[in-house]
Amino acid sequence: MVITQGQYTAEEFIQKKIELLKDEVEPFFAVDLEDVCNKHIRWITSMPRVKPHYAVKCNDDVNVIKLLSYLGAGFDCASKGEMKKVMDLGVSADRIIYANPCKQSSYIRYAEECGVETMTFDNEQELLKIKQIYPSAKLVLRLVTDDSNAVCRFSMKFGADMKTACRLIEKAKDIDMEIVGVSFHCGSGQMTSKAFVDAIQNARTIMNYGNKLGFTMNLLDIGGGYPGNTGTEDYFAEIAAAVNQAIDNHFPDDGSVRIIAEPGRYYVASAYSLATNVIASRDMIDNETGDEKYMYYINDGVYGSFNCVLYDHYVPEPCLLAKNESNEKFTSSIWGPTCDGLDCIQTSIKMPKLVIGDWILWKNMGAYTISAAVQFNGLPYGKPIYFMSKQFWDTIKEAYQPPRRKSQYDAQLMRLNSTDCSNEIEDDMLPWILEDPIEETPVVTI
Ligand SMILES: Cc1ncc(COP(=O)(O)O)c(C=O)c1O
Repeated sequence: MVITQGQYTAEEFIQKKIELLKDEVEPFFAVDLEDVCNKHIRWITSMPRVKPHYAVKCNDDVNVIKLLSYLGAGFDCASKGEMKKVMDLGVSADRIIYANPCKQSSYIRYAEECGVETMTFDNEQELLKIKQIYPSAKLVLRLVTDDSNAVCRFSMKFGADMKTACRLIEKAKDIDMEIVGVSFHCGSGQMTSKAFVDAIQNARTIMNYGNKLGFTMNLLDIGGGYPGNTGTEDYFAEIAAAVNQAIDNHFPDDGSVRIIAEPGRYYVASAYSLATNVIASRDMIDNETGDEKYMYYINDGVYGSFNCVLYDHYVPEPCLLAKNESNEKFTSSIWGPTCDGLDCIQTSIKMPKLVIGDWILWKNMGAYTISAAVQFNGLPYGKPIYFMSKQFWDTIKEAYQPPRRKSQYDAQLMRLNSTDCSNEIEDDMLPWILEDPIEETPVVTI
């Protein structure tokens, strides 16, 4: 956690950090929590009727969860592990939706024990299973969507079509299960706002049917799929305008229906910038053209933070930090550090020549990166370093105040006192470290 005097961009912060690093070249993320906060402000001002429930699967960093909890968001959890993580941080069960249509029985039991009442389903077997385990659960029926314009599609796996949805409502009525609303997900990286508009209209139809059969359908969940990379602000505004119009048309603001969403990438994508180091390189000659080509090996790859290349269809763009005198560009490829040939981040890109030890910055790396990374080949992946201005820290530091335990505090104090740390450590930051999973990260000011 680094508190800066004044405002730094991620790139400026990374430059500064690298200057201070000397020989240490492990990959790291510069995490801009103010960006997450600004996203929240944009959300609640753009879609004031839609309460965001952050999709924890996208990035389960406790410091993001704490901040969003402090800002008043709810949470979409996909498993027992996520529910536990969020509740351990003090979030109450009524702020959680268990939004996984196909759930392990023991996790449904766990939800009941903890008081997480609201959960999604999309088929009869799941309905019968929940009836057996948690008969008083409040069910949300997930509808299928047209996600053909999304980067990551889910409709082949989840969601009931309109006819099936009506049958499920009838079945729920027969077995005395309570359906409280409808959800959908238009696919992650959805490229058209029309997908949201159509899905909202379908939700209205199904909720009308539920009401007709005697249910009180009072929850609409418009899922995730909202863009979060830098530069997608206009597209987000377009989706927000279309969603607002559609909910005003189909769900007049009379207090009868609560509207929520499950944004994941929207909140975190742009807040995380990854810094990686060139650890090896190979010069080659293209046999056909005789041109020089280069292969660069960096210290994070597709088993680590760049798993988004495989799972999220992401094409990360390198941003070179080293100043290169020559403007000449060469065909280059960028590889991860493991011994696997699959571990390739860029197969072919024109870049200036790099040397071992150069740093490469990757922006928009917060979504579906660290949450699925592993240390394959015993190699670490990017570790988050949170940076923010003193002014911002002062506004949000309450989010990071844990219930203080004296023994913990004293131990931390002793450890920090015995560390040779040339940076200034501020006493009032110590409580924050106590709750930090990455305890080695000192609080410093620059
Ligand atoms: C049920 C559910 N909700 C929300 C999300 C978050 O989607 P996004 O990150 O595109 O907003 C996902 C992503 O997989 C999901 O499966």
